[in-house]
Amino acid sequence: MRTITSDRLLLRPWQDDDADFLLDLESRWEVVRFLGPHPVTMSTRDQALASIARRKAAGIWLITAVGDGRRLGNLLLKPIPLSAGEAGPDEVEIGWHLHPDAWGHGYATEAAAAVMADAFDRGLPRIIAVTMPENHVSQAVCRRLGMTHLGRTTRYYDTTKELFEKTL
Ligand SMILES: CC(C)(COP(=O)(O)OP(=O)(O)OC[C@H]1O[C@@H](n2cnc3c(N)ncnc32)[C@H](O)[C@@H]1OP(=O)(O)O)[C@@H](O)C(=O)NCCC(=O)NCCS
Repeated sequence: MRTITSDRLLLRPWQDDDADFLLDLESRWEVVRFLGPHPVTMSTRDQALASIARRKAAGIWLITAVGDGRRLGNLLLKPIPLSAGEAGPDEVEIGWHLHPDAWGHGYATEAAAAVMADAFDRGLPRIIAVTMPENHVSQAVCRRLGMTHLGRTTRYYDTTKELFEKTL
């Protein structure tokens, strides 16, 4: 898995010594409440280590600050799970969640823009993002990224989501 850089950010694979940060990030309800159909907060360092092992294998980056290496959040680019009964070719989703200390600086948009540019450079034709209908802050990130809003869908994650896409 490659590192990806932008003006202010370096995205790198998660490592075991990021476990304390991951626990701090995902033990917060305000961070996880819109993630997946059944969000749960993380509560132990062992859970963080197990999650890091999965992230290393799954195309999920840790967003850090260029310069001091400060850890900021999580950025993923991976095949999206379809709801039960849905069929079709793999579609690739992009997703983000940042530590509250890192909100309000444009880091999520900057990290996602860098990952999208890299993916389009490598020939990926289409990237989608899904958000909970009430997650207006994340929908604003999608709009800042120039993604097109396609409306509501139940096609993914067995739940109702707002769907955004960007094509090459
Ligand atoms: C979704 C989430 C990543 C958005 O974070 P964010 O910091 O608001 O998003 P951006 O990186 O696009 O930053 C934009 C904000 O930074 C501000 N900003 C400050 N300096 C900036 C700069 N140099 N460049 C761009 N924006 C800047 C913008 O004005 C904007 O603030 P505003 O909304 O108050 O106007 C964050 O709220 C989060 O982690 N939420 C919990 C998890 C979650 O819901 N994830 C999404 C699931 S679908």
